[in-house]
Amino acid sequence: MTAGGDGFAAVAGGPALHIPVLARPAVELLNICDGGVYIDATFGAGGYTRAILAAANCKVIGIDRDRHAIALGQPLVQAANGRLNLIEDQFSNLDVVARGCSYEAVDGVVLDLGVSSMQFDRAERGFSFRLDGPLDMRMSAAGLSAADMVAAVSERDLANIIFVLGEERHSRAVARAIVKARAAAPIRTTSALADIVASVVRSRPGDIHPATRTFQALRIFVNDELGELVAALSAAERILKPNGRLVAVSFHSLEDRIVKSFFTDRSETRGGSRHAPERQRPEPTFRVLTKRPTIADADEVAHNPRARSAKLRAAERTIAPARTDQASDLLPRLPALADIMKGR
Ligand SMILES: C[S@@+](CC[C@H](N)C(=O)[O-])C[C@H]1O[C@@H](n2cnc3c(N)ncnc32)[C@H](O)[C@@H]1O
Repeated sequence: MTAGGDGFAAVAGGPALHIPVLARPAVELLNICDGGVYIDATFGAGGYTRAILAAANCKVIGIDRDRHAIALGQPLVQAANGRLNLIEDQFSNLDVVARGCSYEAVDGVVLDLGVSSMQFDRAERGFSFRLDGPLDMRMSAAGLSAADMVAAVSERDLANIIFVLGEERHSRAVARAIVKARAAAPIRTTSALADIVASVVRSRPGDIHPATRTFQALRIFVNDELGELVAALSAAERILKPNGRLVAVSFHSLEDRIVKSFFTDRSETRGGSRHAPERQRPEPTFRVLTKRPTIADADEVAHNPRARSAKLRAAERTIAPARTDQASDLLPRLPALADIMKGR
């Protein structure tokens, strides 16, 4: 690595909009080299992109589905002097985006999943049960909001979604309370939903807020976060050069399980089990670089509580051709939002 990007550490100026989590190990595992091309598929406030640009004389394609993040990144595009392309898109399209920027293959892809502080801490984005705002939760401006979803989904589907994506034990009670409340008046704000959930999920002092799991479930569902992740892992497999690196930082077990299972599936050399006959497996497309996930040290967690739940996994692309299956068997079985709305 060479220090090729003086000044990138503080290009945007002012207080940090989002403190990057595990940026140092992520950039180290990307193995940034002069002349390389890297995709930062979750540009956010540009923390990872700055670190990549500073690590070598390389190029970065930054992707974010949030147009506010893209707009706030423009000063960095200027400062990068042709080394940064910033594109508003979903990361499930990251291979298509790279080809659109005239790169047939890239040296690294990094995914820093979830929402940024810029999204979470703004009441008007509707992600937080602690801030009163419209019940929105969309990372991009398109698609249906959490309010649309809460107004339309059946009690059974709601309970299922909140159970699977929020891992909420009281999902049935929450779904029942939502359906009862919406019969009286539409649920339009984050505080209205938080109050409904708190009326049926008890919490003791020191526990997480009773609405935490329900809000997580609705956010993941509205943004199809797990479907996007599975598609992005396959897209990275298609666009990475041999020896190119894929690094993923996840913030909850549903995401981490998908990354871990994808890496296991793509790196296994032998099939079958004690109970099943040996199967012929395709050549591995990845070599796993992190046998155990990298986590934040005590110092990082002390400075940035978001780092507490972060897990980083990395793998290196082999020369084997990308698989044609979309790894969609890694997804929990849930109805798609579009289908639910069609069936209304
Ligand atoms: C945790 S933040 C990334 C922060 C960034 N690494 C930094 O240092 O500032 C995640 C970002 O990814 C974006 N994002 C999440 N899912 C996405 C998707 N499917 N496609 C594109 N961007 C996505 C969010 O809008 C958000 O800005």
